[in-house]
Amino acid sequence: MAKIIGGLTTSHIPAIGNAMYSKLEQEPYWKRFFDGYEPVKEWLDEVQPDLAIVVYNDHGLNFFLNQVPTFALGCADSYQNDDEGWGIPASADVKGDAELSWHIAETMIRDEFDITTCQEMKVDHGFMVPMNLFWRDKPTTNWPKAIPLAVNTVQHPLTSAKRCYDLGKSLRKAIDSYPEDMKVVVIGTGGLSHQLQGERAGIIDVDFDLECMDKIINEPSWMTGLSNDYIMEKAGTEGIEVIMWMVMRGALNDKVNVLHKHYHAPISNTGAGVLLLTDAE
Ligand code: DHB
Ligand code: FE
Repeated sequence: MAKIIGGLTTSHIPAIGNAMYSKLEQEPYWKRFFDGYEPVKEWLDEVQPDLAIVVYNDHGLNFFLNQVPTFALGCADSYQNDDEGWGIPASADVKGDAELSWHIAETMIRDEFDITTCQEMKVDHGFMVPMNLFWRDKPTTNWPKAIPLAVNTVQHPLTSAKRCYDLGKSLRKAIDSYPEDMKVVVIGTGGLSHQLQGERAGIIDVDFDLECMDKIINEPSWMTGLSNDYIMEKAGTEGIEVIMWMVMRGALNDKVNVLHKHYHAPISNTGAGVLLLTDAE
């Protein structure tokens, strides 16, 4: 049977993609940030997951403002990255698993999540930066397969932390009921606090970020009780991306073990957080 062996989270700031491409990891600005990923990479080397579900938001590469689904699931056997304007070459294609994707789609739709199924899907920094952060030391051909699960955090009205958490529970049901032996990790991406435009652009609320990380681990009902307005007031308009961490959290047990936790701010305009959680009994 397939099994979720862990939940990971990371921010997906595009400047990180440039730092990896330009090999800036040891520079003073970047060193502490990248050091925060080493324990997760060691764990991944040890457990060797077969597949990653990457929960991210598309920032205008695959969906533009004229057509934005609330939840969209990749149902393809490979996913393409494309130029996002940083002068970084597009990454190699990432292998998918269409069969598992359709099983997840069926489970979620049976659970009344009316997701959009995408048999073609371009993936932007929201997906590629996390994949690169966790697996860049390996040739792309040795990466686990991946399935993109896109959540609209861009075009209002947006879904909620609660709905993302519930979607994670449906995702768990889907993986637990898939007959093939397969080790799966779920990656929640985005956040933490940041706002890229308007009057309060650039403000990072470290206390709120740390509180979110703690509550996501220990008291997810705190997070599911928050309104989007409140999250955006504290974390900024793009800080709402944190709701995607709740899909990961919903896919794990009520109680979790914290194998790794790291926070660093600022990276670009953003508070950057990393978690590695596993199910506690
Ligand atoms: C930044 C962060 C993001 O999550 C994003 O999608 C784009 C930019 C930033 O901090 O620069
Ligand atoms: Fe983003």
